Amino acid sequence: MAEIQLRNVGKRWGSFIGVHNFDLTIADREFLVLLGPSGCGKTTTMRMIAGLEDVTEGEILIDGKVVNDLEPKDRDVAMVFQSYALYPNMNVYENIRFPLKVRGIDPATHDDKVRRASAMVELDDFLHRKPAELSGGQRQRVALARAIVREPNVFLMDEPLSNLDAKLRVSTRAQIKNLSHELAVTTIYVTHDQIEAMTLADRVVVMKQGVVQQVGSPTEIYDRPANTFVASFIGSPAMNLMEGEVTGGVFRAEHVEIPVSAPDGPMTLGFRAEDASLAEGAGQITAPIYTLELLGDATMISVRVGGALVSVKADKSFRAEIGDDVSFSVPTEICHLFEAGSGARIGE
Ligand SMILES: Nc1ncnc2c1ncn2[C@@H]1O[C@H](COP(=O)(O)OP(=O)(O)O)[C@@H](O)[C@H]1O
Ligand SMILES: [Mg+2]
Repeated sequence: MAEIQLRNVGKRWGSFIGVHNFDLTIADREFLVLLGPSGCGKTTTMRMIAGLEDVTEGEILIDGKVVNDLEPKDRDVAMVFQSYALYPNMNVYENIRFPLKVRGIDPATHDDKVRRASAMVELDDFLHRKPAELSGGQRQRVALARAIVREPNVFLMDEPLSNLDAKLRVSTRAQIKNLSHELAVTTIYVTHDQIEAMTLADRVVVMKQGVVQQVGSPTEIYDRPANTFVASFIGSPAMNLMEGEVTGGVFRAEHVEIPVSAPDGPMTLGFRAEDASLAEGAGQITAPIYTLELLGDATMISVRVGGALVSVKADKSFRAEIGDDVSFSVPTEICHLFEAGSGARIGE
């Protein structure tokens, strides 16, 4: 069992702050995803937990014990990286077995452990192959098995799927999800891919420039983004956001008029493409079609509102031409409101 506590953890290099005031308790067996754009501090946070990077502020605790000064090897964490660095001259079996040898684990148990780990990632039939004789996805699974075989207390994975092509990424993602269910080990998983985060996580931590923006379940983050950054990072397409002005209980921007319950002033209004619908008569947004995208199961209609492109998901049978006027119904209750300056969410 392993509960991980980050108490106001920070990392600074000279005057540059890589991670600022990270404060979170990760429950035993939780699958936590750190999500954010490149350079936001995900890897640094993970490396501090692993002990590969010094903490410059705060404390990290594993099962109630401060580990700031513990060597990586004494923390009982296993890491899987984006580049899987297998030993090219060893076959799959020996690659998976390697951590057991290094850690001086009783040789009599090796065969059993290697076979169990390789079965979990469906590599049983490839044990005799060298890494060069494997596909990218199989190599990544060897790296996973090599981490599993140690039966660590904590699993750290840093963008483990990013070297795989799109199709393989989806199947390997499913495998990681299934594996984590089976292993039930506390896992911290780093990615910049919001779909990976949404599909894998018990909770997601959204980061920007070293600062945590929101922590919540995938549903919470999707349904109630804490600010415009989170709103624009989660979902495909991301939430539609438009800047406008509220006067007398009505939000107005070019082509837009939506009743809202908010005080007068500048504001950002957001809604998701699937929440709005085509209006029969005059809706709250009326504008010429900027582009139409056929998605197979639906049609994505985009219009230009002020400076922003706004997308609405329509039926797959929808037919129109670029330039035709369309009108959308955007009910008040589906709208999200954010402060104009800070971008912080207003209300529930
Ligand atoms: N050793 C270092 N010295 C100085 N800055 C660093 C060092 N390592 C990382 N950084 C900076 O810290 C920030 C966060 O990096 P990182 O944690 O790798 O981001 P992410 O994994 O989210 O892409 C980046 O701006 C990066 O350039
Ligand atoms: Mg990184």
